[in-house]
Amino acid sequence: MIVTVASFKGGVGKTTTALHLAAYLQQHAPTLVVDGDLNRSASEWASREKLPFKVVDEKQAIRFAKQYEHIVIDTPARPAPEELKTLAEGCDLLVLPTSPDALALSAMLQMVAALHALTSNYRILLTLIPPHPSKVGLETRATIENASLPIFKSEIRRLAVFQRAALEGVPVCDVKDPYAKNAWRCYTAVGEEILP
Ligand SMILES: Nc1ncnc2c1ncn2[C@@H]1O[C@H](COP(=O)(O)OP(=O)(O)OP(=O)(O)O)[C@@H](O)[C@H]1O
Ligand SMILES: [Mg+2]
Repeated sequence: MIVTVASFKGGVGKTTTALHLAAYLQQHAPTLVVDGDLNRSASEWASREKLPFKVVDEKQAIRFAKQYEHIVIDTPARPAPEELKTLAEGCDLLVLPTSPDALALSAMLQMVAALHALTSNYRILLTLIPPHPSKVGLETRATIENASLPIFKSEIRRLAVFQRAALEGVPVCDVKDPYAKNAWRCYTAVGEEILP
């Protein structure tokens, strides 16, 4: 399976999502992450060689891809309209992370509108959901569901342990932190919706 993670807006959790979906898929079968973003965040995360899967850039991807069952592609924010077609056609599932704020939501809706003519193979993932008593996660979900757009049932909570994971160059399940298990559970639940 090829899963691509993309968004119009930056900082909505694309790289975090790509790496954790890869950590989930790797539990099923050999998984490769292709770092398609020139800022190379995924490669930096991998640079301590503590991730349970391989991360390569797009130039190395062709050489390595055939050895792997699953591929997860991380992409830069703001893909050009002509790139969207390539992104959509190059994967089995496009995951669109969005945080529950007005700007991210509006960027996500623009992306969905642009994708409409290209593919139906996409699903929206709510990320960076603030804790109770904030209702912004629920409200954003209601907006997306009322528009009849495809959205993962599971969502990703905003937890500082994700930032620690990036700093330490590990998946969140390997951080020694009381919230690590909760954080990892968010992504395994999404993974189970993709590949039970
Ligand atoms: N669920 C989360 N909880 C808390 N912090 C998070 C979460 N997901 C991501 N972050 C943090 O938010 C920032 C942006 O995340 P990330 O790099 O994954 O987003 P991105 O969409 O790939 O950004 P860019 O568009 O710059 O590539 C990072 O500092 C990351 O550690
Ligand atoms: Mg990124």
